[in-house]
Amino acid sequence: MPAPSPRCSNPLDWTTRRDALTTSDWLRVLREAEALGIVSVNLSGGEPFLRQDLDDIVREAKRLDLFSTLITSGLPCTGQRLGALAEAGLDAVPLSLQDVTEARCDRIAGTPSLRQKLAVARWTKAFGLPLTLNIVLHRATMPHVDAAIALAEELGADRLELADTQYLGWALPNRATLMPSAQAIAAARTLAQAARDRLRGRMDILFVLPDYLADRLRPCMDGWGERFIVVTPDGFALPCHAAQVLPGVVWEKLTDKALADIGHHSVGFNLYRGTDWMREPCRSCDRRAKDHGGCRC
Ligand code: FES
Repeated sequence: MPAPSPRCSNPLDWTTRRDALTTSDWLRVLREAEALGIVSVNLSGGEPFLRQDLDDIVREAKRLDLFSTLITSGLPCTGQRLGALAEAGLDAVPLSLQDVTEARCDRIAGTPSLRQKLAVARWTKAFGLPLTLNIVLHRATMPHVDAAIALAEELGADRLELADTQYLGWALPNRATLMPSAQAIAAARTLAQAARDRLRGRMDILFVLPDYLADRLRPCMDGWGERFIVVTPDGFALPCHAAQVLPGVVWEKLTDKALADIGHHSVGFNLYRGTDWMREPCRSCDRRAKDHGGCRC
């Protein structure tokens, strides 16, 4: 197994996964999602641009009146492909940056990337699509929050998400490298709050604290199996992107069963629904219906 990536919590076994959903599977899943009452679809990855049928998927989402968001690294994107997606009905583009200077961004990404990402940001605006910039904060990026805000303003971003690393997955064993000081987080948060006030009405700025500094438990996924269904590239339906880390749960695939069947009746989706599964002190806490006992993964 390769050494843990210093920042990414994606699984490392993608090369063992060969059964990507087909185009017709994806179009069926979108139809089943719409029939379940789902109103928006986030196309994420991996990297959604690696699918050559992305236009078909976006076009079907549009036909079903689902709000479609393309969460991308921007790396395999061309202006032509993004234009075709805008034409097909794409609604929004969140773009990830690893940092805001070429040397630092490219070092963390492990490949030349910032120039391409900035081009994608400009194409997004040129095609009239809302642009969100996502920057993960950790010890190396926390001091650059003011530069990130300036870059987002320059690009005309509609939203800037400055999200602290959450110490799950690979981030947990790498926390000695990643974790900033509490003072650095407080300083960055103050800068973000000042910019949010200054830019109100022009750009939303979201600053997400790491869970260990938050006052309250995070209502992770807004409740297990309540609002979100994650579909992996190889067709597993999950209540959370990280659910496959839970030991002993057999997850079901959309090639074998309908989305409604899995969402309503599968063991995994019902594992942490409601409050019956909770132990004390969550079970008798008056916030149990608000924070749902925090993060299960
Ligand atoms: Fe899965 Fe929090 S990451 S419930």
